[in-house]
Amino acid sequence: MMDHASIDAKARDILRGNDRGGYTLPTEGLYPYQWNWDSAFAAIGFAQFDVDRAWTEIETLMSGQWPNGMVPHILFHVPDPGYFPGPDVWGTDGIGPIASSGISQPPVAATAARAIIEKAPDQGRDRLAALFPKLKAWHSWFMTWRNAGGAIFITHPWEGGRDNAPDWDAAMAAIDPVGVGEYTRRDTSHVDPSMRPTKDDYDRYIWLVQRGRRLGWDEAEMAKDMPFKVADPLTTFVLLRANRDLAAIADLLGEDRAEIDRWTAEIETGVEALRNAQGVFDSINLRSGLHTGCVTSSSFLCWYAGVDSDAMRAELAQTFESCPYPIPSQKVESEHFDAKRYWRGPTWGIVNAMIARGLSEMGLTDEASRLTRQTRTLMVENGFAEYYNPLTGAPAGGGTFTWTAAVWLAWASPTAGEA
Ligand code: DGY
Repeated sequence: MMDHASIDAKARDILRGNDRGGYTLPTEGLYPYQWNWDSAFAAIGFAQFDVDRAWTEIETLMSGQWPNGMVPHILFHVPDPGYFPGPDVWGTDGIGPIASSGISQPPVAATAARAIIEKAPDQGRDRLAALFPKLKAWHSWFMTWRNAGGAIFITHPWEGGRDNAPDWDAAMAAIDPVGVGEYTRRDTSHVDPSMRPTKDDYDRYIWLVQRGRRLGWDEAEMAKDMPFKVADPLTTFVLLRANRDLAAIADLLGEDRAEIDRWTAEIETGVEALRNAQGVFDSINLRSGLHTGCVTSSSFLCWYAGVDSDAMRAELAQTFESCPYPIPSQKVESEHFDAKRYWRGPTWGIVNAMIARGLSEMGLTDEASRLTRQTRTLMVENGFAEYYNPLTGAPAGGGTFTWTAAVWLAWASPTAGEA
């Protein structure tokens, strides 16, 4: 078995190797552009060995911000025919400063910015000060356009980052992707199709993109009779945490934090709506008003957002018992569980990193250490994969993956500060 120092070196090599000068690809081939939350994790990884580069990652991401405050989920810096759907399909020309998609992604950037400044408080204060109003404008966009009483909703499965999670099944089934037309997927030429979303999913992904394009990506227009509108625990918990981090940044910079605190209070209220009848944090299809009944790895992000739950403690104990490589993106006992298929079963390093951080901050230190140890083993034995089969630990999806290497450096490695 490799020693940890050489695995650290390997992780740094992955970040350097995926670096395209100012931004980092999630992995070459499958994802040839800058992805929003991938980039925030890349920055957290870079902060462990190159603080200057870490700031640059966030700056490049925020340089794609739209006039309405939205920060796109993909920035198409350099055209690449190996990816679909590219800029020609999104049709956002002239809206933002950089060719981009028309939807956002879970807002991890403020949390990343706080992690960077804490790593090196004497470097980058001016860079943080320049980022602050942009981060705040992005959070404000969520509170304006993605806010259902403090529960944060997504308008496309890609906006939640968990493309084919079973949480979206009912909402997706209600869409008839009429007129979507012919298209050629590229993801399944890079990765085994059994590890990717299905064609039924893809038809609807593209149909939703075509709708946004037809409406000129105008949020007020898109909000009318929205076909896909699901309140999402992951996005809600990530924004809640990022808001607290943004308030801490405001304190550091001597900026006013009152509005940010109001958002935090509003989301704290919204979180309560996400508890289902079993007390578990669960998405809500806002078109039907129904919870989905899914226990996903996102449900366990409550602690990361500073929210405790007895029901989630019980679920966690059960998950540790039922799954050799937790935390599965879908509960192993669920009828929807599919060990290899993207967000319908596999374990993801970044989600584990956030869950463990929350557990440790909320005093659940045994659980936090256990999850850290188990994830460390997963990465040592299986490399820096996009995700892993939770039953066997086998790597799945893309390889040499930026955010997996990043959370190794920042958290799972024994040399990481938090481990
Ligand atoms: C993809 O292309 O699979 C991405 O997840 C979309 O953001």
